[in-house]
Amino acid sequence: MNAGPESKAAVTDRSAHLEGAEDAVLRCDELIAGYLPGVNILNGSDLYVKDGELIGIIGPNGAGKSTLLKAMFGLVNIRSGTVLLKGENITNMKAHTLVSRGVGYVPQTNNVFPSLTIEENLEMGAFQTPGKFKERFAFVSELFPALRERRKQRAGSLSGGERQMVAMARALMTEPSVLLLDEPSAGLSPKLQDLVFIQAQQINKAGVTVIMVEQNARRCLQICHRGYVLDQGRNAYTGTGRQLANDPKVIELYLGTLAKA
Ligand SMILES: Nc1ncnc2c1ncn2[C@@H]1O[C@H](COP(=O)(O)OP(=O)(O)O)[C@@H](O)[C@H]1O
Ligand SMILES: [Mg+2]
Repeated sequence: MNAGPESKAAVTDRSAHLEGAEDAVLRCDELIAGYLPGVNILNGSDLYVKDGELIGIIGPNGAGKSTLLKAMFGLVNIRSGTVLLKGENITNMKAHTLVSRGVGYVPQTNNVFPSLTIEENLEMGAFQTPGKFKERFAFVSELFPALRERRKQRAGSLSGGERQMVAMARALMTEPSVLLLDEPSAGLSPKLQDLVFIQAQQINKAGVTVIMVEQNARRCLQICHRGYVLDQGRNAYTGTGRQLANDPKVIELYLGTLAKA
């Protein structure tokens, strides 16, 4: 892979975070962003994802992982730095514009309409391109057959894991070039967490480029091609999933007993 041979250690210097980024689908350069005036949550964050990759963003609670995804999706103001989608500057574009340009986003919580059926949730996902509903519904139900079997069931009556599946499928209805997933395994039982990781991998194997933020760092590093460790709004380490999972510093700081729980 681009990050070099498996034997190479995870790296910390900034230039390495964008090594191999030339033909990235999506790329962030030195993002500085925050919610309140004078308080930056992202302090110069870089990342990129290539076509067909699944990348993971891990890091402690409050590191700014969700903020990074929200900044890419136009939900948090970027104070400086750039976001490029296929080389085009999309910094601070509004979410609905980003959806039409090919960015899909699944927030951590409240990501389905509980009173609507599965099918209606997917229709909401396709509202910008209703003519494509049939084709996209075929794509997502090929991935997750339960969506077709249970299309008339209300999303509110589904288990947490099934709801994540609907949320991901809804975001896939727009045929995104890149899908942003915010902690899809959060709040689920270990068994259902595992299912969500398998589903994210299935989505990626179906050709969708994925950026996944995860609190279950070990599991995330097992499935991602490359990963970034975010700490205090900055990239602390990057490398292949395996490099990060085997790096003594990463293990000590981010995958220790606390991180395992
Ligand atoms: N809407 C908000 N307004 C102000 N501060 C926020 C808001 N959302 C998150 N923060 C702060 O931003 C920091 C990073 O949060 P977040 O991006 O959610 O971290 P993570 O996803 O890594 O756990 C935290 O200190 C959090 O308190
Ligand atoms: Mg978060």
